[in-house]
Amino acid sequence: MPLAIPQTKPKPVLSLFDAVNVSLGSIIGAGIFVVIGAATALAGPAVFLSVLIAGTVAMLTGLASADLSRMFPRSGGAYTFASEASSNFFGFIVGIVWIFSNIVAGATVAVGFGYYLALLAPAIPIKASAAMLTLLATAIHLGGVKDSSRLNNVLVALKILILLFFAVTAIFFFKFSNFEPFAPFGLGGVVAGAATIFFAYAGFARVSVIADEVKDAARNVPRAIIISILLSTFIYVVVSVAAVGVAGYLILANSNSPLADAIDLEGLGFGFTLVSIGALIATATVILASILGISRVISAMALNGDLPSIAGEIDEKSGVPKKAILVGGSFVLLLIFLADLPSLAYISSFSLLLYYVAINLSGLRLLKEKRIWPLLGFLSCLFLMLSLPLSSWAIGLAVVAIASGAYGAARLFRK
Ligand code: ALA
Repeated sequence: MPLAIPQTKPKPVLSLFDAVNVSLGSIIGAGIFVVIGAATALAGPAVFLSVLIAGTVAMLTGLASADLSRMFPRSGGAYTFASEASSNFFGFIVGIVWIFSNIVAGATVAVGFGYYLALLAPAIPIKASAAMLTLLATAIHLGGVKDSSRLNNVLVALKILILLFFAVTAIFFFKFSNFEPFAPFGLGGVVAGAATIFFAYAGFARVSVIADEVKDAARNVPRAIIISILLSTFIYVVVSVAAVGVAGYLILANSNSPLADAIDLEGLGFGFTLVSIGALIATATVILASILGISRVISAMALNGDLPSIAGEIDEKSGVPKKAILVGGSFVLLLIFLADLPSLAYISSFSLLLYYVAINLSGLRLLKEKRIWPLLGFLSCLFLMLSLPLSSWAIGLAVVAIASGAYGAARLFRK
């Protein structure tokens, strides 16, 4: 059924360059700076192949998302596509899984921030700094600070430059012998690594969530999705080859701050500090984007009647959905204390793949003449999901079951 998101339409001010940076701002964060360690533990030195496989899966769903955003060039992302493709119910479930996935990703990224801050300020406990970052990001959004695309462009440039600095530095300390044995855990390990590092690509479709703000959205949103996946895949492959070449896979596999530890091995104090600062900038930008995204989807769903209307209310003074921001920030905060980083990353990857499955199903239904990308996207997402731990399946499916129950109960109650 047609979906109307009854919000005051923002002005389309973002250029293609800004739009690419919106996605890169959400993509490059704890994945490459932290979760790459857990992926290397599974894949060994061949982790760059995992990165490439995950990038390819992201690209297939990205192509389907790009076609869908060409068809529906307006805000809402996966929630909009699913509602258009099927029913309110399907849209509701996808919206809830989207919100859940972003909340878990937010907590993962916040803990990643904590690990890197502990390198520079060891006295601050990891979870305490993760919580402080979340509170700060929530407060910034509550203050009604509008997303500044200029600031975002600068921060994205900084994090990319620091990753490139890491890769160039690695050339001087590169040891080919670190690639032997190449894939100690076989193809299964490489695929499991791909499912884990898939987390690093989360955020590529963020620009479709705010499509109303992009100039010529039908053209620029799809392009931004594809360009941001290509750029991040390139950066991630280069950085993962560099990290293994410098440190060897065992050091990375046993580290929560793998890129800083790799550079520290060579005694480069300046490089260590710079990479740690890069990780702090990257994780902070991702969490800001996560809380913003979560609050927008909560408020869009509330205004559309899919969540209690109180959650979507826009505060008159600040012009932001304060309650939605508070709900999003509080759940991220809670999760920081409920699970450790690898579990958070697995759950996040699973729920991410789950709503990408939904995006691809929407694509199969709506893109009648171009079903190849959603078909391949659907199959490849399922393939990666099979490599994730059973616990992540249990939690992801429990979220779907609870959301379905709540939807049914709300309908009954309304009648
Ligand atoms: N892709 C985001 C990150 O790696 C979630 O931090």
